[in-house]
Amino acid sequence: MLKNDLLLRALRREPTAHTPIWLMRQAGRYLPEYNATRARAGSFMALATTPSLATEVTLQPLARYPLDAAILFSDILTIPDAMGLGLSFAEGEGPRFARTSADEQSIAALAVPDMAKLRYVFDAVAEIKRALANSVPLIGFAGSPFTLACYMIEGGGSADFATVRRMAYARSDLLQRLVEINAQAVARYLGEQIAAGADAVMLFDTWGGLLAAPEWRRFSLASMRSVLDALPLFAPRRVPAILFTKGGGAWLEELADSGAQCIGVDWTVDLGSARRRIGDRVALQGNLDPMVLLTDPETVARTARTLIDSAGPAPGHVFNLGHGIVPTTPPDHVAALVNAVHAYSRQLHAQSSERSSGQA
Ligand code: CP3
Repeated sequence: MLKNDLLLRALRREPTAHTPIWLMRQAGRYLPEYNATRARAGSFMALATTPSLATEVTLQPLARYPLDAAILFSDILTIPDAMGLGLSFAEGEGPRFARTSADEQSIAALAVPDMAKLRYVFDAVAEIKRALANSVPLIGFAGSPFTLACYMIEGGGSADFATVRRMAYARSDLLQRLVEINAQAVARYLGEQIAAGADAVMLFDTWGGLLAAPEWRRFSLASMRSVLDALPLFAPRRVPAILFTKGGGAWLEELADSGAQCIGVDWTVDLGSARRRIGDRVALQGNLDPMVLLTDPETVARTARTLIDSAGPAPGHVFNLGHGIVPTTPPDHVAALVNAVHAYSRQLHAQSSERSSGQA
């Protein structure tokens, strides 16, 4: 059905003609056309809640580069917004909630939101799928239950999320309740994205790496597992899941046993040793340092080739950055990256399939 299904093949650890590549935050402020659409929308939230505009910006990076996947344009904080926390993005600042979920009362009052409040997201998924016309797969996503809890407790971003980390020890019962509600909400939310057409889903555990190992297992890993366990109840079909814990390099074995088909890793992880640690249990996604894109096209291409070499010849690598593209990235450096990944991996994959047919 899909004209380019390399992402889905790589997620199943099947051989591919080249290493598929997509980039976290591929639709974003480094693209002048994104900034123009955002200005027309008036605000980030207006952009995200209008399906035709969300579709337009989702497709912008695909019009420029031969990327192997699209990712829904939205945000992880749509769920707490639908829970009534009142999300806004002030110009030049991060996200802000009008209300927080940091004490006994506010956490007791939380409930899984009515999915009708998130209709705009599912409508965007359906509209993007129509616009893609089976060219490449569409990735849906959500925040991990713990990462959502971080923003709900602090009311916005934070350098160290100290309130959340204190709560993990001082009021573990409250944090536990919060991540359990979030896990139910995330499972339903991803189920609806799959129903609307998402071909794969990704959980962003952006702040899991801030926790000590026992607390990460208890509050983040366990709640991501409950999302994956509950997903078949809410999704009409099974699609591959990618788990990304930023700073999770110490926990790759546990991530690989979570039930996800692919583990996303940040740039601190060596892909070769990651592969040796987890064997062929799951696919790996990553992990170029986004700062490499701030150098020059030759450095970008050379560093990408080194990364592909470290990932090794076995199938099951999805090329990505180790975290989101930064807004100061020159768009032509992204073109150099996508071309280098395609050209170099195509050569390698052709050699390794010749070798294996030579043995046959
Ligand atoms: O990757 C994509 O292209 C899809 C779109 C996407 C956005 N946010 C759009 C966005 C995705 C997958 C996200 C996920 C997200 N949102 C995460 C997890 C991934 C990560 O980066 O770790 C987190 C933590 C958020 C919360 C969030 N949203 C923050 C902290 C911010 C402000 C920081 C920033 O980059 O400005 C946002 C805003 C946001 N979400 C922007 C985009 C393109 C920039 C806002 C703008 O246009 O003004």
